[in-house]
Amino acid sequence: MTSTQAQTLNLPAGPDTPYDLNTTDESFPKVADYIAEYGDFCLIKPVTRANNTILINDPDAVKAILVKNHENYKKGPGFERVKMLLGNGIIVSDGAFWRKQRRMIQPAFSRKCIDGLAQKMQKANQDWLAKWQEKADNNELINLTADMSELSLEIILRCLFSDDLDKLTQQEGQNPFDVLTQDLARDIQFVMKFRALQSLVQQLINERRESSKRYDDFLEAFMQAVDKDSGEGMSDKEIIDEVMTMIIAGHETGATTLNWAWYLLALHPEEEKKLHDEVDSNVAGDIPTFAEVATLQFTQQVLEETLRLYPPVWLYSRTAIADDTIGGYNIPAGTNIFFAPYFIHRHPQHWDKPEEFNPDHFLPDEVKKRHKFAFIPFSAGPRRCIGDYFSIVEMQIHLGTMAQQFKLELAEQEAVEIDPQVNLRSKTNIMMKLTRR
Ligand code: HEM
Repeated sequence: MTSTQAQTLNLPAGPDTPYDLNTTDESFPKVADYIAEYGDFCLIKPVTRANNTILINDPDAVKAILVKNHENYKKGPGFERVKMLLGNGIIVSDGAFWRKQRRMIQPAFSRKCIDGLAQKMQKANQDWLAKWQEKADNNELINLTADMSELSLEIILRCLFSDDLDKLTQQEGQNPFDVLTQDLARDIQFVMKFRALQSLVQQLINERRESSKRYDDFLEAFMQAVDKDSGEGMSDKEIIDEVMTMIIAGHETGATTLNWAWYLLALHPEEEKKLHDEVDSNVAGDIPTFAEVATLQFTQQVLEETLRLYPPVWLYSRTAIADDTIGGYNIPAGTNIFFAPYFIHRHPQHWDKPEEFNPDHFLPDEVKKRHKFAFIPFSAGPRRCIGDYFSIVEMQIHLGTMAQQFKLELAEQEAVEIDPQVNLRSKTNIMMKLTRR
């Protein structure tokens, strides 16, 4: 770029000190400071990266980048690390390959398929209900954070492998995927352990190819998927990458949301009471049926309000392929764009009393009035989370089951702090006292 071109570029203001944003607890206060000081657009110079970053906190710009002009943006910094973990699964792939894979996978997330998978979610919650009943009767505290992590893992694994999971557990002496709940660091050691699990998925693929048994799960759907242009299915490597992607993308996101949802409900007994009233009147048996889930409007609002205040994916990025102009600012090719849902979701121009937990933020009339892109926990546009509906159903089934039976109270009164990593975790495990209702 010549100096004359540089002078004519209209770039947002930003700090003098360079910084490379990342999904770490160190970046979180930086993002807060940048937004407080520079507003909706902030230019951050790079330390080791090749190009500038623009941090965006404006819903119109979110819409322009993720929807209107999405073809000009590929996945941004941070995804190289995820690639080590997931190969070329759809959360990290781009371009024609991503399009092909997404098209093949999408049908597995249809309403009809999720209706089928709901049975696995119900079964897992039925088992968990028995555990919690025992704890309640013995006056034992629950480690909510650990429980949500284990339950969420159980659900995604059952939706992928059905009872083949039992076969693997027997063969390995324990559930080999427990590394996800037991090993909390997401460092290179974790990458190695997680990648080693690929051989077990390959084993299941081989065994299923030899068998005539049909399954109602994601692995079956991925093995049967055919690309409509080429008429070809996925290679084993592609199936494995997509399976591993679903585990990583689907496990901790749901677990952290439920962790925060119960925490917020325990702090707001008046909202908890509304939840109890709804599930008492809408759910006939112990576990919500798929049809009943659709009637749990307030339960859904609780979950959306939780996703607003504690979006699991609190920061994500894109890189501009060609020059663009957004919000009147130039975006030269190569610019990294970061969105921070945590902050957009608390933007005072778009939210009334943004710091308060108020599920009424998601009353249908309130949603209609608000900027659609002021709430982006699942991202937006063609790369929106493929598991959005799956996870809402999963979480409604859980809340609908447990809220019928128990009141959850915080065992300790200190406020729980956030631990912003790739997912927005709680800094400490949340311990709860269960009381039978
Ligand atoms: C509360 C639950 C969840 C939240 C908040 C969430 C959030 C997100 C976000 C923000 C993205 C976009 C990331 C980006 O554009 O950089 C995403 C993508 C994705 N999510 Fe989720 N997710 C959740 C649950 C799930 C579940 C349960 C699954 C699978 C069963 C899943 C699978 C995926 C996949 C495969 C992508 C990549 C989609 C693509 O690029 O085409 N997610 N998710």
